Amino acid sequence: MATPRTMLIAGNWKMNGLENEALALAKGVVAGAADVRCALLVCPPSVQLSTVAAAVSGSGVALGGQDCHPSANGAHTGDVSAEMLSDIGCGYVIVGHSERRADHGESDALVRAKAEAAQRAGLTAVICVGETEAERDAGRADAVVAGQVTGSVPKDATAANTVIAYEPVWAIGTGRTPTPDDVQAIHRHLRDTVSANHGADFAAGVRLLYGGSVKPGNAVELMGLADVDGALVGGASLVAEDFLAIAASSA
Ligand code: 13P
Repeated sequence: MATPRTMLIAGNWKMNGLENEALALAKGVVAGAADVRCALLVCPPSVQLSTVAAAVSGSGVALGGQDCHPSANGAHTGDVSAEMLSDIGCGYVIVGHSERRADHGESDALVRAKAEAAQRAGLTAVICVGETEAERDAGRADAVVAGQVTGSVPKDATAANTVIAYEPVWAIGTGRTPTPDDVQAIHRHLRDTVSANHGADFAAGVRLLYGGSVKPGNAVELMGLADVDGALVGGASLVAEDFLAIAASSA
């Protein structure tokens, strides 16, 4: 099936690196960006966004935040709004990462409110879902991710302002990944779920990323799957050569 979906390789730098390291990493990604055909996105820690924004400016490498508050402004100490991210040059924001769901108790309803805020501010929301190992072992992975995606994707989201990242919790930072057959099957299930919720056009256009121990050595296999439209990369995105090698495998 011909699809209009372009591959997106996104780096989630999480809480890693100081200013000079972020700058060097951003410059390294920019230096290789012209050689890859897929879209590139980097998501540094929020305090480094302005430095990285300047480094990627004009390069075609997109910038994203790692989280946003549902409100545009107000008395929310320590938070950043989607409007602030947009203002500083972001085009994307990750919401509902499993580390935020676990560390900060974020519910599907809160993740949906954050995604709505992102989309209102003109950002593309990268909405994360994924089952725990216990849920997979209990045979509940499909039901868990369908529930998360149904609860977390805003009703009026569009394929253009939404990316869904499937990140099984047990594959994050562990070096373990599901089999390619399992990844394809759950991505197909996610696409069927959003088709039922948001319609066939949304399902055909929305990009579904895989995340969890994506490395240069497994990227060709994972990124070649029919319903995988890119990767959300953690550890390997902290080394420009590895991130670019994943991107080169994905066109
Ligand atoms: P790793 O690539 O380090 O497994 O992290 C994946 C992830 O959580 C990206 O958001």
